[in-house]
Amino acid sequence: MYRNAVFLPILGFVLSACVSSPVPVASSEPPDPAVTAIRSDDQEPLYLDADQPVSARVEDLLGRMTLDEKIGQMTQVEKNSIQPGDITTYFIGSILSGGGGSPPHNTVEGWTAMVDGFQEEALATRLGIPLVYGVDAIHGHGNLYGATIFPQQIGLGAAGDPDLVRRIGQVTAAEMLATGIPWNFAPIVAVPQDIRWGRTYEAYGEDTDLVAELSAAYVQGLQLLPDTYTAAPGQTLYILATPKHFLGDGGTTFGTSTTDGYLLDQGDMRLSEDAVRRLFLPPYQAALEAGAMSVMPSFSSWNGVKMHAQEYWITNVLKGELIFDGFIISDWAAISQVDFDYYTAVVTSINAGVDMNMVPYDYKGFIEVMKEAVQAGDITEERVDDAVRRILTTKFALGLFDHPFADPDLLPSVGSDEHRRLARQAVRQSLVLLKNEGDVLPIVDGTSLIYVGGQGADDIGIQCGGWTIAWQGSAGAIQPGTTILQGIQDRVSADTQIEYDPAGMFGGMADVGIAVVGEHPYAEGFGDTDDLRLLQGDIDVIDAVRAHSREMVVIILSGRPLIITDQLDTADAWVAAWLPGTEGAGVADVLFGDYPFTGRLPYTWPRSNEQMPLNITNVSGKTGCDAPLFPFGYGLGEGGSQPIVQPDCR
Ligand code: BGC
Ligand code: BGC
Repeated sequence: MYRNAVFLPILGFVLSACVSSPVPVASSEPPDPAVTAIRSDDQEPLYLDADQPVSARVEDLLGRMTLDEKIGQMTQVEKNSIQPGDITTYFIGSILSGGGGSPPHNTVEGWTAMVDGFQEEALATRLGIPLVYGVDAIHGHGNLYGATIFPQQIGLGAAGDPDLVRRIGQVTAAEMLATGIPWNFAPIVAVPQDIRWGRTYEAYGEDTDLVAELSAAYVQGLQLLPDTYTAAPGQTLYILATPKHFLGDGGTTFGTSTTDGYLLDQGDMRLSEDAVRRLFLPPYQAALEAGAMSVMPSFSSWNGVKMHAQEYWITNVLKGELIFDGFIISDWAAISQVDFDYYTAVVTSINAGVDMNMVPYDYKGFIEVMKEAVQAGDITEERVDDAVRRILTTKFALGLFDHPFADPDLLPSVGSDEHRRLARQAVRQSLVLLKNEGDVLPIVDGTSLIYVGGQGADDIGIQCGGWTIAWQGSAGAIQPGTTILQGIQDRVSADTQIEYDPAGMFGGMADVGIAVVGEHPYAEGFGDTDDLRLLQGDIDVIDAVRAHSREMVVIILSGRPLIITDQLDTADAWVAAWLPGTEGAGVADVLFGDYPFTGRLPYTWPRSNEQMPLNITNVSGKTGCDAPLFPFGYGLGEGGSQPIVQPDCR
């Protein structure tokens, strides 16, 4: 019921697979290779026959599997933790790269060699079940040096263009497939209600409908590639999408985190079931309708119980009501957070409906506990079969049995001019013009002197934010690309002189001054904060540039709205540029008027720290100094909002 035409066949076979009578459970004794070797059979086993329907291939394969082989399929190991030979020994079903999990040679060739090498170990098992390798390519293939890095999802929420998001999904898919990786832990379909959360930028915005629409578009883009990219026609899915984190991500109460040093992330959501369904469920419906075949639960809790232990939400609501026929991948060691006792944690989570465990380190420990639990009857063999059936179904749908390795034809597309052009377009569309007094923007051609200040003006790492090369990201030239400063320098003619100083220290008087300020990279709970005011260093840069410029523009690079109320008057124009990625030239495109400002705020912009949490669900009736600085959906420019006259609240 949630599938488009393309996925009706999958739904059909999955449903029939799910309601079929239990398949015989093979014994858990280690198989005798001489007796059971599959590939030396005279007759090719049915599951290897690509002409057979997927449901038949899954049932045939499942019927041949031992308990060890099944548990192996339910195990996902982090790539630095897996010991040589163990993929084969333990029948491991999946490997992942966490944030920063790149191979020693961080090149397309290095990635391909690593991933294909793991795949060879999997194919060397008795049944030759391919691995599914996963990565967080949340704004492009961020761990890969040289990949095209798009604006973080917050910027795409500001752009609000589903077709753009679909194409970004396709390009990301192509760059992933070039490295042999068919699984993306994205999109983030959270609906953040409190921007003090460190994952605010990973989401499209605070509005459920906006998130649902863009999430569906991204899933379609990732999973269905146009012919120009597909070397393996006939495949059903190209990249496995993972809407995350289920459910209520972004809805936790400030100060409830169960993780040391975090405030909101991995915290507790204290909302009625009605509110949870209304705010957070529609993006999952939309993503599943678009064909998503895996979902990741949230580290957070609902009324004190971790989501990984919520059988009601995972099994009854997601798998039952929403007819989700794909599989549930746990978050990073999230099962360990369910209970102090690991056995209880595993039993509770797997019975709640988690199908694959992102272990990520001690896989032998997990496998042992799983075996013990099945043998003790605490986890039924039916539950194991259900999990493995969902995983295998997805692997067949991904075409992994028929095309297990990286696609060398896609190699030249990684970081290509064409891909970067799309990213640059996304940057242009993501910019939100907050203030433009005296129409100082666009900057006129032939302006003789422009001063540019602020470290962020010339720093790719700051532009990209978290989940870029490293989990937390970092400042510096961490990816090839174009900084905002380079974009400006490339855009102006020889008549315009550009001077740059990170601290904004200049003499004389420029026609236009530009200060680039904001946040430095962070990820997850490390970005939780109760203070979103501009740092004093940034205020100093703004003041310094202002003192030597006739007209003044501030560009904010940040993962969320920042408190700029006291500085707003200092500059004539303010632009929210979010975390634009590697193509900083997109900023210059709009600053100089080659393209119009069209972005709209995907989050309510608060006036003070004290107003938070402030969002579309609680803003109504707030006026004057209680109103936000800028409301959700605000943005000057073509077809945009009227400028706001700010009240004096000092
Ligand atoms: C990994 C991340 C992961 C995080 C979880 C980091 O070490 O690189 O991918 O999300 O740990 O705590
Ligand atoms: C994050 C997930 C991510 C996983 C793997 C976790 O810490 O919460 O979003 O997919 O790490 O890197």
